[in-house]
Amino acid sequence: MKVNLQTDSGSRAPNSLTVEGQSMRRCVAALLFFAWCGVTCHAQTPVADDSVTFNKNIAPILYKNCAVCHHPNDIAPMSLITYKEVRPWAAAIREAVVQRIMPPWHADPHVGDFLNNPRLSDAEIASIVKWVKSGGPEGDPKDLPAAPAFETGWHIKPDVIITIPRMTVKAGNQDDYEYIYVPTHFTEDKWIHAAEVVPGDRRVVHHATVSVVDANSVPKLRAEHGDVEKVDQYHFRTGKVNHMKPDAPVSDDGCVSIGNGPLKDPSSGGVNHVPAIYLPGHLAEVRPAGYDLKIPAGSYLQFQIHYSNRLGQAVTDRTSIGLVFAKNPVTHEVAQYEIWNNWFLIPPKDGNHKVTSCYTLPKDVLAVAYTAHMHFRGKSMTTEAVYPDGHHEVLFNVPKYDFRWQETYFLKRQFILPKGTKLVTTAYFDNSANNPLNPDPSKSIRWGEPSTEEMMGFWLAYADVQPISEHMETAASQSPGKGRK
Ligand code: HEC
Repeated sequence: MKVNLQTDSGSRAPNSLTVEGQSMRRCVAALLFFAWCGVTCHAQTPVADDSVTFNKNIAPILYKNCAVCHHPNDIAPMSLITYKEVRPWAAAIREAVVQRIMPPWHADPHVGDFLNNPRLSDAEIASIVKWVKSGGPEGDPKDLPAAPAFETGWHIKPDVIITIPRMTVKAGNQDDYEYIYVPTHFTEDKWIHAAEVVPGDRRVVHHATVSVVDANSVPKLRAEHGDVEKVDQYHFRTGKVNHMKPDAPVSDDGCVSIGNGPLKDPSSGGVNHVPAIYLPGHLAEVRPAGYDLKIPAGSYLQFQIHYSNRLGQAVTDRTSIGLVFAKNPVTHEVAQYEIWNNWFLIPPKDGNHKVTSCYTLPKDVLAVAYTAHMHFRGKSMTTEAVYPDGHHEVLFNVPKYDFRWQETYFLKRQFILPKGTKLVTTAYFDNSANNPLNPDPSKSIRWGEPSTEEMMGFWLAYADVQPISEHMETAASQSPGKGRK
């Protein structure tokens, strides 16, 4: 796509934009648009007009949907705020929005209704297409809305920022999992509405998961992570990362129990209290109003940071988490089921390898958000609920998984998944040479912490069905062990 920068240089007369330098891909984009336009709007021939201008029509779209990443010193390669910045990218922007590559979003739009869905409307796309076709006019400066303001590094306004002590990441440390414990010093329970993990040095922080842990468990956790020999018979360790042994038992179907060994229950689902995570393409986590995560007084935060330093020199990192406290009444406490199948084996060159996991909910919960987690060979993931009455419903579908964009999808409306609902997740992996991200198609792939090996995880953020206040009354007024009704 970089080529577009040169072909649409801003110094060119604006009206030449649509005529010259059409790449094959842009023709395809244009054809797609005409095909779509044929059913939704009147047939048009390209005409130079300035009824759609940057200042009046385009800037508001970019400010609302793009500037969050496309501003100086953020994750996108270029700023899209001023006319001067945007104009050279006009054709690339058209291509990116027509093909719905930007803004990034990987959930199937027909499955689930999500709070953080940034997809442009057809009308917004049509405006951009029309603007580019008519030469990208700037328009009247009076029409230009105020540019959005951003705090460097943050996409939320944290009430508190907690930072790890300075970490030295040695040159050549390709894959290190470090566990770092930082006290919150909270003297009372805190409710977290939004959070964001910002890497100290994006070049070496591959991912970072921040979990809430009890102060008393910190010494034990520290000792466990320090003990390099502490892996079971199915795993091995190189440096600071774990891998599944090549000859460990295999179960691609996590829904089928085999024997009494580890495959008796091939899928696992643990509960985790995760204020936020940093993954490629993962933005700040802003929970729905009333749905907050509790950090009890005195807790520690565990930063699990995966460092990967390919720079040829040691660097220091100070990764931080920013927390926004709940300002509205808290109605529900959020936690997360992390559902995995870790026993798969993806054969060499297999372009469509299926792996499933199954997890039966141990209690009634409200579904709050979904996340799909795989590595470079991840191709697609679908999660279906099989309800206790037997009917099925697809909850979540990521038809084209992209390791570089691991979003968490927050539901607009939380809904009950009753106790006994089975969550069946089906993932496909592409271990062929056709997958441009595949580090090595000749390898047989098992679970492993490095991105060059694989993981298969579906995470469900959930809340208890009863609102918090009822919950507390229930706890006070009823004897333990009583049901909900
Ligand atoms: C969540 C952050 C994010 C948002 C929101 C976002 N972008 Fe991007 N954009 C990126 C990143 C990161 C890249 C570079 C990596 C890539 O191409 O995937 C990129 C790349 C691009 C490119 C391709 C640049 C090239 O190299 O050819 C275009 C064009 C673009 N974005 C336009 C847009 C437009 C228009 C919007 C809004 C409608 C938008 N982006 C929204 C993060 C974002």
